[in-house]
Amino acid sequence: MCGNAKSVPTFFVFWNLVYKLFCKLHRNCNLSIGNYMETYLVTGGAGFIGSNFVKYIRNKYGNNAFIIVLDALTYAGNLLNINEDLSHDNVVFIKGDIRDAEVVSSIFGKYDVDYVVNFAAESHVDRSISNPKLFLETNILGTHVMLEAARKYWKSDDGHTYKDGKKFLQISTDEVYGSLAKEGSEPRQLNVKDELLRVIGSRKNLKAFGSEFFTEQTNLAPRSPYSSSKASADLIVMAYHETYGLPVNITRCSNNYGPYQFPEKLIPLLINNILEGKKLPVYGKGENVRDWLYVDDHAKGIDAVLHNGRIGEVYNIGGFNEESNINIVKLVIDILSKIMKEEPKYRTLLKNDIDSINEDLIEFVTDRPGHDMRYAIDPTKIAVELGWFPETPFSIGIEKTIRWYLDNNDWVKSVTSGEYQKYYDEMYKNR
Ligand SMILES: NC(=O)c1ccc[n+]([C@@H]2O[C@H](COP(=O)([O-])OP(=O)(O)OC[C@H]3O[C@@H](n4cnc5c(N)ncnc54)[C@H](O)[C@@H]3O)[C@@H](O)[C@H]2O)c1
Repeated sequence: MCGNAKSVPTFFVFWNLVYKLFCKLHRNCNLSIGNYMETYLVTGGAGFIGSNFVKYIRNKYGNNAFIIVLDALTYAGNLLNINEDLSHDNVVFIKGDIRDAEVVSSIFGKYDVDYVVNFAAESHVDRSISNPKLFLETNILGTHVMLEAARKYWKSDDGHTYKDGKKFLQISTDEVYGSLAKEGSEPRQLNVKDELLRVIGSRKNLKAFGSEFFTEQTNLAPRSPYSSSKASADLIVMAYHETYGLPVNITRCSNNYGPYQFPEKLIPLLINNILEGKKLPVYGKGENVRDWLYVDDHAKGIDAVLHNGRIGEVYNIGGFNEESNINIVKLVIDILSKIMKEEPKYRTLLKNDIDSINEDLIEFVTDRPGHDMRYAIDPTKIAVELGWFPETPFSIGIEKTIRWYLDNNDWVKSVTSGEYQKYYDEMYKNR
């Protein structure tokens, strides 16, 4: 199953090893030829958040980052997402499954991996309801394979401690905390704690649908096969830290939105359906509330935790942007309709005429079983400890996102052909 998409850039691998060895021998070496090169093993790096993270790291660290993307290329992974990144010598792609211990071991054997960033997962709640087993296998057993390899290959020569600078970062979700109450149909002004206010600066006009938030101390109470598989993986990651001393962090984030998201998830699904002149399926009455985080802000938060997070800690990453599903649907309709009216060049993407973009497209469908009502994250810890906050206000992020899908319609066409179409018909045709 394992094969390199392009020949391994031996120069980078060789140089990295020599340089690390040199730095180890001369602990304070400060060469003018550049910083210490760090090697990232990014699992699921051809998926939505993983591919955005690869771009973020490449943009920020340039050739000081060597990135290995390990991805099984399920329906959700697409090499198109990292096409440009793969044209650079410091990014390599390996097609392989995180459940495959042989493949994972061969990567650790070949490269001196510094960071594992474990994005690889089955990530869609609806699919977890139809096929829970796959979620348990990928999300739990796959994570375990990754942990075992890190434990084996990161051991110091004394066999007890771990080599310097290694970290296993598990990308988790706010869904592991379960569901919060929604208090009222409209959001209220959020009173942010003073310590947080210092970090979030100008973003003061924040609203929330309730008074309770998920903090890192909130008990895990997952309610779907997806969220319980992610919670199980989190527990195993922590067990590896407590039992074997493995250097780990866990990040738990809210709903991401942005470029390269597979159009089964709410925002790209809405955009795609509007262009295609299809109905916009909304679960129940669309009352459920999610906190929306721009994917680039998420990548920045992961980078902060990877480099500066305290070992063994969990960090919540949230967008300070709660919105009900129905409001998201209405907002996407409004923005798309406005863009189409003002910028005729996009009209060729529309199957129907502009006037068809209105709220009549909304179609309420039978609710998802066990649908969590509200997720809301309190990101005080990452803000105060690491100076991170979600910089992108939703009004800007959502328009950027919609424009990206309009400008990259070929990408949408390519990933929505074939299997997805079958899945879409099964999910929504008879609801
Ligand atoms: N998207 C969100 O809003 C969100 C929110 C909270 C947490 N998360 C978490 O972030 C991570 C990434 O989410 P995403 O939205 O980018 O997911 P995604 O579904 O877009 O991407 C998942 C990637 O993992 C790959 N993959 C799946 N099974 C694999 C396996 N067995 N071996 C190797 N690769 C495999 C897929 O091919 C795909 O490229 C997941 O762990 C998810 O639980 C996502």
